[in-house]
Amino acid sequence: MSAASIHPATEHWPNDGLTHVPYGLYNDEAIYERERERLFMGPTWNVLGLECEVPNPGDYKTTFLGDVPVVLVRGKDGTLKGLENRCAHRGALLCLERFGNAKAFTCVYHAWSYDHDGNLVGVAFQNGVKGEGGMPDDFRREEHGLRRLKIDLLSGLVFGSFDPNVPPLETYLGADIVARIRRVLPRPVKVLGYYTQTMRNNWKLYAENVKDPYHASILHLFFTTFRLNRLSQKGGIIVDESGGHHVSYSEMDKKPANKPDEAAGDSDYEAARLRADDDSIGLKEPALLGGRDEFDDGITLQILTVFPNLVLQQVRNSLVVRQIVPKGLDRTDIVWTNYGFEDDDEELADLRLMQSNFIGPAGYISMEDGAVGAFVQRALPGTGGETSVVMMGGDGAASQESRATETSIRGFWKAYRTMMDI
Ligand code: FES
Ligand SMILES: [Fe+2]
Repeated sequence: MSAASIHPATEHWPNDGLTHVPYGLYNDEAIYERERERLFMGPTWNVLGLECEVPNPGDYKTTFLGDVPVVLVRGKDGTLKGLENRCAHRGALLCLERFGNAKAFTCVYHAWSYDHDGNLVGVAFQNGVKGEGGMPDDFRREEHGLRRLKIDLLSGLVFGSFDPNVPPLETYLGADIVARIRRVLPRPVKVLGYYTQTMRNNWKLYAENVKDPYHASILHLFFTTFRLNRLSQKGGIIVDESGGHHVSYSEMDKKPANKPDEAAGDSDYEAARLRADDDSIGLKEPALLGGRDEFDDGITLQILTVFPNLVLQQVRNSLVVRQIVPKGLDRTDIVWTNYGFEDDDEELADLRLMQSNFIGPAGYISMEDGAVGAFVQRALPGTGGETSVVMMGGDGAASQESRATETSIRGFWKAYRTMMDI
């Protein structure tokens, strides 16, 4: 049976095409189940957090891989371990806190307990009470451990996979993506704070949104108004071989667009950007648009994705790990972890906090992204076998210097189709 006949959502999807995407993919229950099995629990690396979130032995963090609850824990030997957060007895959620420290994980329901490696180490009343009841003699605790994840690290970012045959992390990512991840994680990291944002749309609409430079300077008025991101700026898009990972980067204009002849020093430049083109509005706080060239390369914006669930962001000095967590067909949580470095001076730490206002659920820039996904989701009824159009910049998924392109969205679908086998 062909995949198309299993999933009516993809019936009209051309076999070799990346330029048309069936709307049915965003609201089909069978597709969602297949994504869980093939993408999230398949041979992919999924970001689970930052190593510094669980610094000491016994420290744990609960999170999700796809929509599957998992625990990340630092073992007694200092290594990180990943476990499915579900008791092997009757399936209760095992760890209930977001963060904590535990010598062992004990289920609240019937007190089965597990060590940091997920081994079942205790079963309440295993031998019954007063010689009555209890587990049968052939019950083996070693047969009832927690499901383990494979864990790998890159520059303090922690990735997990349910598939023991997943390729090594750096092979999965490719050299270009590895280098760009290292770029924004060069030193020991410190978490500055979190937001969790619930979007009323399928997770793929958000995954596409962050790979879409076409919309950035149009939808996000703040970007355009204060000349932070224009498609005319120097930059480019890198798409890896698989198509699933990408980097979009740009350098801010060194001179204000409306005064190209001015020999602008940084302070003139900052001053010019405080007012919108039409002078009708302005910013009272100039430092918001200022910032340091902390990575010494002039790049002021870098958005990087790793298929399927990581977005790593640099907007000026605002650095964020975003984790995409599907919560059903039409709901997605985005977990935003703002970070800086342990050796940040006070001024830089303050700058990061102030510039964190760019992003997040109510961010000057990213606020609109929380709305557009739902605009698509709300318009899905009636789409039937129709497809969307992804033709900007050609029909391939290669790296491009122009950002007037949808190449990285096509890359997403390239990797998606390979993994989903549809
Ligand atoms: S469900 Fe966890 S001990 Fe019974
Ligand atoms: Fe956006």
